[in-house]
Amino acid sequence: MKRILLMACILAVLMLTACAPTPAATLETYDDMIVVGFSQVGAESDWRNANTRSMQEALSEQNGYRLIIDDAQQKQERQITAIRNFIHQGVDYIVLAPTTEKGWDTVLAEAKAAKVPVIIVDRMIEVEDDSLFTCWIGSDFRKEGDEAVGWLAQHFGEKPLRIVHLQGNLGSSAQLGRTQGLDAGLAQHPAWELVYRDTGDFTQAKGQELVEALLTQGIQFDVIYSENDNMAYGAIDALKNAGLQPGEDVTIISFDASHRALEMVMAGEISFDVECNPLHGPRVQAIIEKLEAGGKPPKLTYVEESTFDAATITREIMDGRGY
Ligand code: AHR
Repeated sequence: MKRILLMACILAVLMLTACAPTPAATLETYDDMIVVGFSQVGAESDWRNANTRSMQEALSEQNGYRLIIDDAQQKQERQITAIRNFIHQGVDYIVLAPTTEKGWDTVLAEAKAAKVPVIIVDRMIEVEDDSLFTCWIGSDFRKEGDEAVGWLAQHFGEKPLRIVHLQGNLGSSAQLGRTQGLDAGLAQHPAWELVYRDTGDFTQAKGQELVEALLTQGIQFDVIYSENDNMAYGAIDALKNAGLQPGEDVTIISFDASHRALEMVMAGEISFDVECNPLHGPRVQAIIEKLEAGGKPPKLTYVEESTFDAATITREIMDGRGY
């Protein structure tokens, strides 16, 4: 009986293997299309999901693209594997939204050797040789941090402030730039005190968990500087569950300015939100079109971004936004 079962299993595996197309065979079907392998950080935030949608809409089959997305679940090693798979599959372009800044030299040298152009989006990378990527488009994260600190200084001046800092994914440009902005603010304002700092990995669940722990420990604070909206949502839930009113008992500073967060700015729960624009799909499409036409896109492009508080936000502004 055991032997019959074993034979049946072997037969099933052989049949499945025979039916499954090899990656190369799969791509041959798309000869008339531009094949793009997109290594995405994950699905950790509303920002990230808006970014993925933007890429899907712009690099669509109607527009002449075959887009292969790999979700790295916020793990760099998964991105490295995905890039190697894309090279092996023979894609025309690789788009990389990097988790962290460091650690890309080896795999990008492999892409360069295979002559696959690499476009970096959103966060930056730090490599020895900048010919390892074709170009980058994304946000000025340090400027975003400076904007947030500027708002705090304008509203509180030299009043004593106890600040809780929820950091994003450690080592990502978004975390590094926004943290540098706050550190510069702390150095300039001796009355400001950093009472707590930890990473919430850009997720709502982690943001809530960290603030709940602080409240349980009885740590007192006036401001939460949350390095993205999702962690701010979690922090707000934790405050409300503890009977505190965000915006009144605690000032919330956040980043991304996604639709849900701007509703909270309107409601006075988030006091200041710095935009981080996720709509990179059409920008990447324009870069690829330029490269296809033999052109040379700028090496580095910073996108324009705004800031929002209760004094500047209007329903009209919100309705005109794409995320
Ligand atoms: O790199 C952009 C950041 O990554 C966004 O602020 C955050 O929401 C996302 O996860």
